[in-house]
Amino acid sequence: MPALVADAVGRPEPRVEGRLKVTGTAPYAYEVPAADPVFLHLVTSTVAKGRITRIDTDATQAIDGVVAVVDHTNAPTLSADGDPELRALQSDRVAFRGQVVAVVLAETPDAAREGARVVEVTYAEEPHLADLRADGPELYKPDSMPTVRQGDLDGAMATAAVTVDEVYSTPLEHASPMEPHAVTARWTEAGSDGVVLTLDASTQSAHGTARAIATLFGLDPDQVRVRSPYVGGGFGSKGMPHVHDAVAAIAARVVPGRAVKLAMTRQQMFALAGYRAPTIQRFRLAADADGRLLGIGHDVIAQSSTVKEYGEAAAGVTGHLYAAPSRTSGYRLAALDVAVPTWMRAPGEMPGMFAHEVAMDELAAACGVDPIALRVRNEPETDPVSGKPFANRRLLECLRAGAQRFGWSGRDPRPGTRLDGDWLVGTGVAASSFPYLRFPGNRARVRADGEGRFTVQIGAADIGTGAVTVLRQIAADALERPTAAVAVEIGDSSLPSATVAGGSSGTASWGSAVVAAARRFREEHGDAPRPGVLSEAETNADEAAQRYVMYSFGAQFAEVRVNVWTGEVRAARLFGMFSSGRIINPRTARSQYIGGMTMGLGSALLEGGVIDPRFGHVVTQDLASYHVPSHADLPRIEAEWLDEVDELANPMGARGVGEIGIVGVAAAVANAAWHATGMRVRSLPLTTEQFV
Ligand code: MOS
Repeated sequence: MPALVADAVGRPEPRVEGRLKVTGTAPYAYEVPAADPVFLHLVTSTVAKGRITRIDTDATQAIDGVVAVVDHTNAPTLSADGDPELRALQSDRVAFRGQVVAVVLAETPDAAREGARVVEVTYAEEPHLADLRADGPELYKPDSMPTVRQGDLDGAMATAAVTVDEVYSTPLEHASPMEPHAVTARWTEAGSDGVVLTLDASTQSAHGTARAIATLFGLDPDQVRVRSPYVGGGFGSKGMPHVHDAVAAIAARVVPGRAVKLAMTRQQMFALAGYRAPTIQRFRLAADADGRLLGIGHDVIAQSSTVKEYGEAAAGVTGHLYAAPSRTSGYRLAALDVAVPTWMRAPGEMPGMFAHEVAMDELAAACGVDPIALRVRNEPETDPVSGKPFANRRLLECLRAGAQRFGWSGRDPRPGTRLDGDWLVGTGVAASSFPYLRFPGNRARVRADGEGRFTVQIGAADIGTGAVTVLRQIAADALERPTAAVAVEIGDSSLPSATVAGGSSGTASWGSAVVAAARRFREEHGDAPRPGVLSEAETNADEAAQRYVMYSFGAQFAEVRVNVWTGEVRAARLFGMFSSGRIINPRTARSQYIGGMTMGLGSALLEGGVIDPRFGHVVTQDLASYHVPSHADLPRIEAEWLDEVDELANPMGARGVGEIGIVGVAAAVANAAWHATGMRVRSLPLTTEQFV
């Protein structure tokens, strides 16, 4: 497809739905009006492994307003083809602490909650395993994850002038969107559209959720309608449905025609909404005396669950970042008796880049080479693993332009030498990258509404990113109309099919379909279309992605202060320079970058979920014990980007901005903390006790 004329594209348009969201008038999943709602509350297991021997609901049934209790003894049988995470209430087995073992339906939220509190569940407990260990006997090599073996890394490590061989670890992290995981579910007689189950769900994928729930109930995907026009944050944790969607649909069967409402409590989210899997990563670098790499090794151990395999793809970064004649990477997973991990903003890249880029900083120090010069020295000409050319790889430009803007030149490389009152001061840098993804099979519809107005429909999701605003800009340019003439409808599985708001793929994937539909519309209906006429188009697989290796890149810079008495680490300044192709909307893109960097700072300094291995539960079960950055934690955060158009990517020339902002931040902060103190911390988050 030819490139898009950029008129609306490139303007800092404010969020289309911003006012509705901040004034509380955008109805979220739990809030959609329902005439006669029933409320649901979850009963969760208090043991990590075993069997349910008895469920006593007498006290619950006695509560005024309780409608029903559903557990494994009376729940409908779900399809064996369903996602194991969603196949709730199917047996007496308990696979992790916090698992849903029963649900209580009641006429009020309070009755449901109280009813759930007094359900008495008796268990036959079994020994469980809930701590991730590098020497765990349960570790296995997953078939689903790639192994890379190039050259002789062990030989390189044995003979190189300089080596790094260290273990880096990252903790559980929990996506904590402001809107909890919530759903309103209702079964009805099939109407003319054939829909029998409607879910108003807080999801990053209306179509994906409809498919998964349909499979679970043995329905056709068209029989399930999922609506999600407004979503209050997701960060990956709403990328696929979780058990609340399934149990709401199960419970709603008891009260056909009525809407069943369920919102996870903040505490329940720490087990049931998924989490970033903790990792233990051995990272090896071999180099000559000048820091030219001879080998890279990245062995990842990550937590998975017995319910469902989830692999945190932390070694993805290792294949493409730097040139080296030998390279190995691979995975071992531990299927523990814990809740199911899931995607969290830059899954894989975030923890993987922490290990990779702290190791590179260690190498720079060992060789006496400036960290930026070290990266320049190891820039690959082609993709090291596949041998394919890179398209628009601009890592070095990000590093150089970022260094200039941050004020890197003249930096004294010696650690632990800059004291400002009680604070040691240092600076650090790390590379950032994220794959360019454009998913095929996205479909969009353009309809003329008369008087020069148009409606564009696609089942995309805007989780607070600005997606709908950006799609309107893209549609306006493709139709060659002002943005005010275009309305965009998203967040509904009855709209043309769209892929997940994940992998930073939305703008590229949905935008390509919108451009294709708009162009077809103009071909079919001309410049003065009759009201009501419409066109649809669907996108194919990305040909450029077959020929080229396509990534967004960035350079993260941090200035850090560490208190000499308390070990408190504070970020004084974060600066990110990014290359993401064309920026469709500088306002929303900047927000994505600095939002990602803010989350990166959370990973660096604050966020660390803790599992108590004795009981198998997440101890840090609220925002008082699991800390995310507040305004008082935030320094000046600035993001800039290279002025570019990625002609190979898609008609918009854009890649993606959603996740790259978080990648590399924790490494830059850890590297700066080393520069400040001389203390090398390889375990996130960087807590005070590691610096005293
Ligand atoms: Mo993102 S973690 O791929 O939703």
